Parts: sequence; structure tokens; C-alpha cells
Amino acid sequence: MSQSNSPRKILVTSALPYANGSIHLGHLVEYIQTDIWVRFQKMQGHTVHYVCADDTHGTPIMLRAEKEGITPEALIDAVHKEHAADFKEFLVEFDNYYSTNSEENKVLSQTIYRTLKANGKIATKTIEQYYDPVKNMFLPDRFIKGECPKCHAKDQYGDSCEVCGATYNPTELINAYSAVSGAAPIRKETEHYFFKLSECEAFLKDWTRSGTLQGEAANKMGEWFESGLNDWDISRDAPYFGFEIPDAPGKYFYVWLDAPIGYMASFKNLCDAQGLDFDEYWKQDSTTELYHFIGKDILYFHALFWPATLEFSGHRKPTQIFAHGFLTVNGEKMSKSRGTFITARSYLEHISNPEYLRYYYAAKLNSSMEDIDLSLDDFTARVNSDLVGKYINIASRTAGFINKRFGGKLNLSANNGVIAEMKAAAKSLAESFEAREYGRALREIMRLADLANGFVADKAPWVMAKVEGQDDTLQQVCSDALEMFRLLTLYLKPVLPKLAGEIEQFLHIAPLNWASVDASLTNGHMIHAYEHLITRIDPKAIEAMTEANKENLTATAQVAAHGVKTASPAPAPILAPSDAAEGAYISIDDFTKVDLRIAKIVNAEHVEGAEKLLKLTLDIGEAQPRQVFAGIKSAYDPTTLVGRLTVMVANLAPRKMKFGMSEGMVLAASDESGGPFILSPDVGAQLGMKVK
Ligand code: MSP
Ligand code: ZN
Repeated sequence: MSQSNSPRKILVTSALPYANGSIHLGHLVEYIQTDIWVRFQKMQGHTVHYVCADDTHGTPIMLRAEKEGITPEALIDAVHKEHAADFKEFLVEFDNYYSTNSEENKVLSQTIYRTLKANGKIATKTIEQYYDPVKNMFLPDRFIKGECPKCHAKDQYGDSCEVCGATYNPTELINAYSAVSGAAPIRKETEHYFFKLSECEAFLKDWTRSGTLQGEAANKMGEWFESGLNDWDISRDAPYFGFEIPDAPGKYFYVWLDAPIGYMASFKNLCDAQGLDFDEYWKQDSTTELYHFIGKDILYFHALFWPATLEFSGHRKPTQIFAHGFLTVNGEKMSKSRGTFITARSYLEHISNPEYLRYYYAAKLNSSMEDIDLSLDDFTARVNSDLVGKYINIASRTAGFINKRFGGKLNLSANNGVIAEMKAAAKSLAESFEAREYGRALREIMRLADLANGFVADKAPWVMAKVEGQDDTLQQVCSDALEMFRLLTLYLKPVLPKLAGEIEQFLHIAPLNWASVDASLTNGHMIHAYEHLITRIDPKAIEAMTEANKENLTATAQVAAHGVKTASPAPAPILAPSDAAEGAYISIDDFTKVDLRIAKIVNAEHVEGAEKLLKLTLDIGEAQPRQVFAGIKSAYDPTTLVGRLTVMVANLAPRKMKFGMSEGMVLAASDESGGPFILSPDVGAQLGMKVK
């Protein structure tokens, strides 16, 4: 990858979502990942075009339209509007969001096909396929149903049984029938067109070695080469919703032939609108860069068919293919019965702020093809602690003084070590974003936020504000903190573009780009009034979202009968609501009997057999750490607790519990509306401090 200082010309794509379903949180992993990268590159001052489109062709879309009594065009039109709106709300900013059912795509697909043919790469072969004699159409395997040959479950698909998990050929189904008409399918001969992939092996092996693929993807390619490359069937018979193959009446391009060409077509459409040079980006010896972000499930299409198609039709090849893993929710595949198959729309309805999800995904993403997990508890804890507790906190604790005491005017100190360290991080942060190591970038940014919070806590402007004659220092401390806040905002901008925009307004500065690292807020600069920028995620909203997405409970019961884990009922509140309000007062002496300490959670783990408890190891600065069993399992993923500070009762008599000794108690809040929430001290508190 070229890393020169001169501006690069970059074309970026995300995979084209099928036009027969809604965008869900799994899709968003990809579009958010790409969007962050594109925004980062644009902030670098490079010329970047980010294009995408709906993938509109094929049998499922044709049949769905028919079922709904509308034309396929009407269906894909409605879906296009829905998809575009979803992406917009999630701040995925395409330069063009088009459709594969476009004139540009038709012309490009047909031209590319003609060139492949002229280059001897197209062959025809007669094959036998399933045919629906009533509907008069050939049937994809997915549209043949029947009785499972193994467990005899009825109405199973032609490729696998959803009840017992067996896989088989449609020929093995008992009493097979067409899912379209119900008729028994017959076998029928038909002539198909093939792309001679088997002849492309030498080229593809070469291309694979040129550093275009991640290590894991290159290994996968190795396996494919080993098992041999088969010619690729690129035609389907009428009726089919797609493009006709030139000089082949009644034959259509298989959807996967014209789908990747849809990347080019979307870009062509953008070029025509903006006067860009299409060929500069697609010609054989192009010096521009081309990147495809995809999920690991469609690597075969992008790493074999696509480069071969480009090579033998006289076009440039992708600079790199960036494949990512699949989303799991709470450690498992997204599931309708568990309520974790969550659409983009449903997220917006319940959680509303898209930047929480952008932040969380970014925190989890790296350059590998590993799956990424959305743990809903961790999501809440992470967003609340990082974004609200660390980042926004810096402004919310300092801006008020600037506004109220200094009329909004800044006056920075001459030299601040924390600011210098923050600026010095720009280079390595840029490297992390460039390499798609977003998790690494965010960990570093949060470390910087900790430094800023440490600086503020150390100077304690709220104390200075009460002392005569400290105005100058107060103004400097708060101004410096806002400069730190500006730098953090810049670094987070690819991930949180909307929030960054609001902060630019509040700070009264021009839109930040990467070069703004070298600038600074200046003395005499006036900021605007600080308004609350972000709120915490309410765990109740998460619960409501999963509830709303749970699809018919009978289905859940059936799955449960087959031994698949189902969602447990909502956890009961652990601590009873306090009745202290109506109780008697206690004396100060009673209170001081309780030894409250700041404790650091150095370890947290599940306890085998315990329904509600987590085992915590707490450091309060004594020679031996304390072991405490806390009833907070329902609300916390133990890994997210490690490293946090909390408050413990250190002189509670040790108690022998079923699982071992408990040597104290951590404080947590809860009532019937939610919790438990463990208490955290303000930034600056140290482990072992006494709470008075
Ligand atoms: N239409 C094809 C792509 C054609 S590209 C020329 C397709 N569409 S899709 O709607 O099924 O998926 C679109 C993208 O979203 C793919 O890259 C796919 O890997 C990704 N994801 C879909 N579900 C996903 C998860 N659960 N997790 C992560 N990514 C997922 O494939
Ligand atoms: Zn079966």
C-alpha cells in the first residue's frame, strides 16, 4: 500500500446488499468498517470515492415480487429507498448508492462478457437441472423442498434439513416438490454458458502472491487451488430477473456475474454526474487504488471470479481485498428466537444514537477475518464508560468555567506535556486506522483521554474556582483541557462524525481534518456555550430491543426441544429497593464504623454453579487482595470489570459462602427499573483511598 505524502486517488467499495431484505446489525459491521476507513482517508486529504449499490437480480427477488403482486422493479425501488435511509442514519456516507439494475451496469456487463468471449474464456455446455413443469421454469436448489431423507421431517429445503442438520442433494429428498408451484420437479436438459475459470489458475496464483489478500484469505485460496478450479456457470434460463446475454436468446447473466460489475457501474454513474475520468480508475495500468471491503462468506467471488473477470476483460485488478468476519450477538449467531436478529431500523427505534454502535464496532474491529461479538452488556458498559465517562467528561467538567467565568474566552498555557503527548500520537494513530486496526486506535485514544482526565482531576478546577486570585490558572487549565478535547475529537472523527460536527460548533472551529493536529486552539478564541452532548445508554432500551425482535415464541419452544439454548427470562432485581427513606436516622458514629475503600477490580470471573454471583478479586492496597462474591452476574460481563475502580465495604465480617470466603462487599445500585450498577469513584481516586 502506498503511504507517500502526495494525495492518493482511491476507489472504495462495500459489498452490495441484496435487495430482498432489510439491513441488519451484521451488515452494518461492514458498512461502518468501510465508512470509518473512507472518512479517515478523506481527513488525510486524499481523493476518495466510496460507491455501493443494491444487488437486485436473481430468482428470489423475482419470486418475492410476484408473491407481493408487484413488479421486480417496484420491489427493488422500495428496498432501495429503505436501504439508503438506513445507511444515511448510520452515517454511512457513500459518494454514490446505486442499483445493479441500471443502464450503466447492463452496458458494462455485456461489454465485459463480449471481451471475455473474444478472449476465448467463454464455453457452453449442456447440463441437466431441476425444472418446474407447471411454472415452466428451472429451479435453484433452494426452491426445491421435500421430506428429509434422514429424519423424515417434512418441507425441508433441497440442500439441507433445518430439523436434523443433514446435508444432501435435492435428488435425495423424498416426495420432492417445487416451492413455487408445488408440482413434482422433473430433470431437464439446458445449455449453459461458462466462464473458463480453470484456465485462469496461473494468473490467479500469481495475483494471490502479490499481497492483495490477508494471510488467512491467501490460505483459503491455497485450499481452493488444491481442490482445483471449476469453470463457472454464468447463465440462467428465462424467466429470470436480470440482464440478457448478448446473442443468446432466453439466457440471462447469473446475478453474481453482474453484481461486482455493479461496483464499476455505480462509479460510472458518479463519474458522469461529477465529470470524473472512469478509465483512469479502471484501465489495465491504472495508478489509482481500488479496495473492496467484503465479508468472509463472499471471498470466493471476490478473490477468484472477480480478478479473473477483470484480467481477461482488460481491466485493472483490486489493490487489496479486505475481508472481515461475521457478527455474533452475545457470543452466538444472530437469532430470531433470541431476539438478536436486529435490523438497523429496530436499533434506531430503541437505542436511536447510531454512533454508539459505530464506536463499539470500531473498538472490536481489526484487520483479521475473525468474527466479532456484540455483547449487549459490554456494549452498554463500554459506551457509557468510554464515551460518556472518559471522553465527553473532559468538556463537561471544564467548559462551564470558560463560559461562566471568562465569557467563553480561552487562554492556554505555554506548555502542556499532556497536549504534547496527544499530538505525538497522531502518526501511530494514523497507521492504525490505515491498517484497519481500529480497536488498537481506540485503546490508544482512550489512554489519551485518561491522561486528559488525570490532568483535570489533578488541577481540580472546581477547587480553584472557589479560591480568590486563581482565575488565570483556572482559565488555563480549562483551556488546555478543551485543547485536549479538540485533539481527541479529531482522532475520533472517522468513528463519530456527527458528534465531531457538534463539537466543532461548540468549539467554534472549522471542520477538523488530520492536519488540524498541528494547529491549536488559540488565546483569545471564543467558544460557544456548552450543551450536553451525549447521554448514557439505558440498559432497559437494550432489553426492549431484544424483546421486540423475538419472533414467535412457538418457534423458540421448538428450537429449545432440539437442545439449542434459548434466552433466559429477564433477571430479577438482586437488591431489594431501599427502605431507608422511611427508617430512623443513624449517627455519624454509626456511619464511620463502616470502612469504605476505593478498590481496584484486578480479576473477575464466573463462579461455576452460581446463578447470580461473580467472583471478584479486589486490591485495596493491602498485602493480600480481597476475594468478594458479588450478586452482579446479570448485569456484567466479568471481562469488562477487570481494571475498574469501585467502592467496597472493607470491614464487613468475612462470610463463608457456598463457593468460598467472601471478604467484603462491593456497593451497587438497583431497583425494579434496572441494575445492579456498581459504583465508580470519580477520575483521580486511587485504590486504597478511604471513602468519608
Ligand atoms: N449481494 C451479495 C454481495 C454482492 S457484492 C458484489 C451479498 N449480499 S448480502 O446482503 O448477503 O451481504 C452484504 C455484505 O454484508 C456481505 O459482505 C456480507 O458478508 C455482509 N454480511 C451479511 N451478514 C453479515 C453478518 N452477520 N456479519 C458480518 N457481515 C455480514 O452477499
Ligand atoms: Zn432431517
